[in-house]
Amino acid sequence: MKGIILAGGSGTRLYPITEGISKQLMPIYDKPMIFYPLSTLMLAGIKDILIITTPEDQASFKRLLKDGSQFGIKISYTVQPSPDGLAQAFILGEEFIGNDEAAMVLGDNIFYGHRFTEALEQAVENAKKGYATIFGNKVKDPERFGIMEITQSRGVTKVISVEEKPKKPKSNYAITGLYFYPKGVAKMAKEVKPSARGELEITTLNDMYLQKKKLRAEVLGEGFTWFDTGTFDSELDAANMIRSIQNNKDKVICCPEQIAYYRGWITKEELKARADLLKKNSYGAYLQKVIDETK
Ligand code: DAU
Repeated sequence: MKGIILAGGSGTRLYPITEGISKQLMPIYDKPMIFYPLSTLMLAGIKDILIITTPEDQASFKRLLKDGSQFGIKISYTVQPSPDGLAQAFILGEEFIGNDEAAMVLGDNIFYGHRFTEALEQAVENAKKGYATIFGNKVKDPERFGIMEITQSRGVTKVISVEEKPKKPKSNYAITGLYFYPKGVAKMAKEVKPSARGELEITTLNDMYLQKKKLRAEVLGEGFTWFDTGTFDSELDAANMIRSIQNNKDKVICCPEQIAYYRGWITKEELKARADLLKKNSYGAYLQKVIDETK
């Protein structure tokens, strides 16, 4: 399975901050925003990842993430010339995906919660069996999101409909920015027609899988934390939440180095090199603690 992080977009909602820096490189407490979606893909066991950025920002992402070997993964890069919609990622990534399944996470989406890894593993399994998977999270303001109408019985969630930012939402379940697809997603994405606002909508792509009876959904549980960090307030809220979770649990969450080390993708020596590089702050100290705890 291949992974894509979509980290482009005009960022105008966060001007003047994003006049000078890509939104997905901004800090969320102690790490760049993109570390969070990167951790999500790594937790799904994905080691081959394409990062899609604006043409102007690509060099900054390369400076930060390089070829991915510090995290035991392979990172490649491509650009999206203009923000023509989320489904375009699969067209831009067609060669990268090849004859494989593909997951995509939006570069500004943060996920953290109980049993997340299990849910991700299930989505990978679904993709191998020919099914797409979306993840729903209850929200107060459903008109701001893609929405899934579902039924739930005996732990099985069935999708009835999906709609992009409906004026009259049929449910409170937002479709989060994390999507898993079976082989052939680039071909499907090419069939997506632009919406009224001129974008290749991910919700149209999901609806195509739904019409073929190939769409599954996971509902993220009550205690789950999901942030779409699109506004000044949601960025600060996310940073405060991460800080309080980390202080409370005395750990660093969504830490790509730790995920890589626990999965055996990097050696203790490689982790030590990162810990030494970052030793002036609590992030580096945490990496050293991970090493010490596994002695
Ligand atoms: O976060 C979840 C929501 O993401 C879903 O519920 C919606 O169904 C989905 O359409 C999307 O809604 P947003 O309003 O958040 O989409 P937005 O246009 O803000 O784009 C999401 C991120 O993707 C943002 O960081 C910019 C980036 N982006 C966006 C577009 C349209 C790109 O990199 N390329 C693009 O072409």
